[in-house]
Formats: sequence, C-alpha cells, structure tokens
Amino acid sequence: METGKKGFGIEFPLKHSATGTTIFTVMSALATQHGAINLSQGFPDFPIDDALAQFLFDAAKNGFNQYAPMPGFPPLRQAIAADFLKRYGVKVDADTEITVTPGATYAIYTAFAAVLQPGDEAILLEPAYDSYIPNIEMNGAKAVPVGLTAPDFQVDWNKVKEAITPRTKAIIINTPHNPTGAIWDQQDWDTLAEIVRDTNIVILADEVYEQLVFDGQKHYSVLEHPELRERSFALYSFGKVYNNTGWKIGYCIAPPAFTVAFRRLHQFLSFTTNTPAQYALANIIEKGVAQPVGEVMQKKKDYFLDLIKETPFTIHKASKGSYFQVASYERISDMPDMEFAQWLTREHGVATIPVSAFYQNKHDDHLIRFCFAKKEETLKAAVDRLMGVGVR
Ligand SMILES: Cc1ncc(COP(=O)(O)O)c(C=O)c1O
Repeated sequence: METGKKGFGIEFPLKHSATGTTIFTVMSALATQHGAINLSQGFPDFPIDDALAQFLFDAAKNGFNQYAPMPGFPPLRQAIAADFLKRYGVKVDADTEITVTPGATYAIYTAFAAVLQPGDEAILLEPAYDSYIPNIEMNGAKAVPVGLTAPDFQVDWNKVKEAITPRTKAIIINTPHNPTGAIWDQQDWDTLAEIVRDTNIVILADEVYEQLVFDGQKHYSVLEHPELRERSFALYSFGKVYNNTGWKIGYCIAPPAFTVAFRRLHQFLSFTTNTPAQYALANIIEKGVAQPVGEVMQKKKDYFLDLIKETPFTIHKASKGSYFQVASYERISDMPDMEFAQWLTREHGVATIPVSAFYQNKHDDHLIRFCFAKKEETLKAAVDRLMGVGVR
C-alpha cells in the first residue's frame, strides 16, 4: 500500500484510496468564497423543534452529563424499540439488538469493521455515500462498486450477481438513496434475499432517510424482511429525523450475535454516545411532539420541484425519498459535472454537488444534486438565481 507524507520522520500509512479533500468541503468553501446559496451539503438550514432544544437543556440541568451505558441510554433504546413496533410492526429487543452510536457514519464503519478481514470484498451500489469505500478499505478489504443506471437508478441484479465472489463478505445498500432519491420496493429485498441465500454475506442496510419518503410511498426496512433481517446490520441517524445533523447521534439494529460483535468494537472506539442528546431524543420520541419530518420535507420537495420547472434544469425523476433531488443540465451545457457545479457556484451563486463525486471512477451522467432541506426563502432565492442560467 502507498504511504502518506512524512512528518517528524514518521511515515503515516494511507488506510484508504480517497486521499483528496471531499467534494462537500470543496463546494462549501467555494460557496462561501462566492457568496453562493448552499444547496450542496445535506443538512437543514432551519431550527430544530423547540421541545427538543428544551429536552437537551433539561438533560444538562438535571444531571444527565456523565457517561451513558456502553450500548446507549436505556430509555432511548426502549423508545427506539417502541417506535419500530409502532411504525413497522417489528419487534426489536432494546437490550440485545440496539446500540446507540455517535452518528450513522460511525455505525457503518463499526459494522464493516465487525465483518471484514483483510483480503475480503464488500459490494456497494454506486453512486454511493462517500464514506463506504474508505470504510471498507480502512479494514483492509476491497470495495467492489456496482453501478446503478440513470435516470431510475434501479439495481441491475445480474451485475450484483456477477460481482459476488467467494471473498464477498458484505453488501451495503442504501434506501432511500443519497444522492438519487430512489427507494427500494419489496421486490428488491426479495431479490437480494434470493441472491445471498446460500452464502454467508452480511447486509448493511443504510436506512438513514427512512422517514423521508414522499407521495404516499412506503419505506421497506430490512427489518421487515425476516430472512434478511437475520444477516443484517440496519443503520439509522437521528440527524435526518430531527433536523439536528450536528448532534451526530445514530444507532444500529442487528440480531443479538451481530450486536455482540458490533459492541466488541464500539466499546473501544467511542465506548458510549453523548448522554444529554440521548436523553433529549428519548423524550422527543416518547412524547411524539416533534412535527413529523416526512411531512415537512414533502412540502419542501413539492415547493422546490414546482419552482425548478421554470428553470432550464431537467428533472428526469422526482425524488421518492431522502432530501435530495438530482437534475440534468443537458439543456445548459456539456461540461463535465464537476466543472459545471463549480461554474454554477461561481457564475450564478448556487452551490450543488456533482453526482460523479459519488462514484469511485467519477462516472459522469451530467447530473448535479440539490439538497432541498432548506427554508422556503432559501429555496426561492436559489431558484431565482437559477432562472438566470441561459440555455445553450
Ligand atoms: C446515505 C447516508 N448514510 C449515512 C449518513 C450519515 O449520517 P450521520 O450524520 O448520522 O453520520 C448520511 C449523511 O449524509 C447519508 O447521506
């Protein structure tokens, strides 16, 4: 393996191949430099629920300031279990199947670390959330990307089958999907189950956007699939539910033996997760007083799609889930998407993410990703600027 730059005579080993600065940092810096409206990074620009802020204050004031138990604050784990029973009708054991983590990214890394050995392979579907490949490589394993095809970004199951080898130990899937807004249906899970049936392949189901599904559609969780559930780590993020991405609280739901393996690492990685935030989240779930995020984002998606129709951007598929919308600039330019996104930020003051950034080989379908988890005034101001983009 290549090694890193020398510092104080130490050669720092490179643990993964993604050595550049992430596109999110690049685009946000460019947005600041040009005073652009930032629809690039995936986070809300509006406040969290007042009740949630109050619970956080209460936690700190009332002495919930020391280490929580390693698997997570018990009332939060119980609240999660009750919530899954209510929303999905699935029974999850709060003691043996739920582990609260410092964010979903951490949970994804830990699940990979629990499963992968050097020389193993892990399959992912691209475009993909950018931590997957580095996380696989940090565990000495090889990332095997399988492409999803625009504009639907459905899975080509033959390609997945072909990618499986005797060294394949894990497949990570993400629904609702960042960056494309595609979602899986029951049939997708059934096909995956068929493909892995006679193998020891473990599934990592990244379901961080499970509550962001639009137009009356349903999110199918891996936990609702009894056969797959037995071999899966399901990963979640409160940041996407309570609009508090900066709190970095997530959780992993997995069968007891998987949870034992997960916690074996977790106890020596972070050991535990922020106590006041866990207290606040337990309370907001139990009391059910937050405005459901799915309703909030549905309105924002509709508002954004309605506005963007008037611009030269083309929406081939409306987002079905997540808080992202992919758009084509085929009527505007034939620049590569990386160049186009930078040009749009510089010349028109709107920052987005080029979709090629979500591919290891930088595959380019000339698409950019907008994040619509923003105040209406932010979306309106951004689209006003996009109106000024000329067609070619
Ligand atoms: C697909 C996907 N997985 C995981 C995460 C990370 O969640 P967290 O902020 O809880 O680490 C994100 C955040 O953008 C995401 O888009």
